[in-house]
Amino acid sequence: MRQKIMMDVDTGIDDALALLYLLASPEAEIVGIAATAGNVPAPRVAANNLALLDLCRAPQIEVALGSATPLAIALRTTEDTHGPQGVGYAEFPLSPRALSTRSAAELWVDLVRAHPGEIVGLCTGPLTNLALALRIEPELPRLLGRLVVMGGAFNHPGNTTPTNEWNVHVDPEAWKEVFDAFAAAPPQRRPLVCGLDVTETVEMHPVHLTRLAERADSLPVQEVSEVDTPGTRSKASNPIVRFVTDAVRFYFEFHRAHDQGYLAHMHDPFAAAVALDPSPARIRAAAVDVELGGAITRGTTVADWAGMWGREPNADIVIGTDPRIFFERMIARVGDFARAVYPPA
Ligand code: BDR
Ligand code: CA
Repeated sequence: MRQKIMMDVDTGIDDALALLYLLASPEAEIVGIAATAGNVPAPRVAANNLALLDLCRAPQIEVALGSATPLAIALRTTEDTHGPQGVGYAEFPLSPRALSTRSAAELWVDLVRAHPGEIVGLCTGPLTNLALALRIEPELPRLLGRLVVMGGAFNHPGNTTPTNEWNVHVDPEAWKEVFDAFAAAPPQRRPLVCGLDVTETVEMHPVHLTRLAERADSLPVQEVSEVDTPGTRSKASNPIVRFVTDAVRFYFEFHRAHDQGYLAHMHDPFAAAVALDPSPARIRAAAVDVELGGAITRGTTVADWAGMWGREPNADIVIGTDPRIFFERMIARVGDFARAVYPPA
């Protein structure tokens, strides 16, 4: 039986790659996609997901629109990180697919009630809609098989403020509501948290794009180099490889502009891989909380490693991995999938 996965995304270059990873994984069944405001506004996130499903010739998968704003603060988006439409230099046509008539929160609740214990939730954006779903269905932590989230930074600098990771920064109240609610979950249902300290070790380099093109039989195989003119568009013969190349080139340029090198952190695809198989992730349980006050630390995730708060753990934090395992799998899966969807002429 395939693993049912409910995705909650703010697509987003790396969110798009997370969706591709799951579409390309035969053991995964995506049962729904919540479009959450974050990297770009929620309607744009939804449109990106629908268009990516078209590009992948995917079956009908319900995509539900999330809240336009975080729980308690105004929305902040980051087109400078993810491009004007959220997918780097890639451009999507308008999809003929229709959005769900349910809200993202309703979709969460309906799906976990219909399949108790069977669904893995994968959140790669702010947790606004999951928090709204928890308000409707407080039993959600016991109805969900497992929750995997990308967010937070533990003993590691933030990427948005000195201590804030982006997904938490956008909606700190939502993350606190979710962590608080999961304090009631049994240990095997604690959220698996993929924070920046680990996801920033999952570095994509141009060679990974070359290997992806090779695996997909897409030509030319080598398209991206750091000496290229910024914004060079892909001519890859395979449309999925072309999309990935145009999206990731923007992410490479963004990371270089922030002195991180010509590379891109695969935060969200790594979380997708963990959702399907947590075994390459080293994990440590801890009580986690989110700072909601603090003149300069609001939005910071704090893990109580030593048990000083006297609270039971409410999260399993990923503390390490071997990124090579992730890239082997991603290249093999997405490459084979791209080749199957668009066989070479
Ligand atoms: C997270 O922030 C977003 O910009 C990415 O899509 C990822 O989910 C990394 O901090
Ligand atoms: Ca994201």
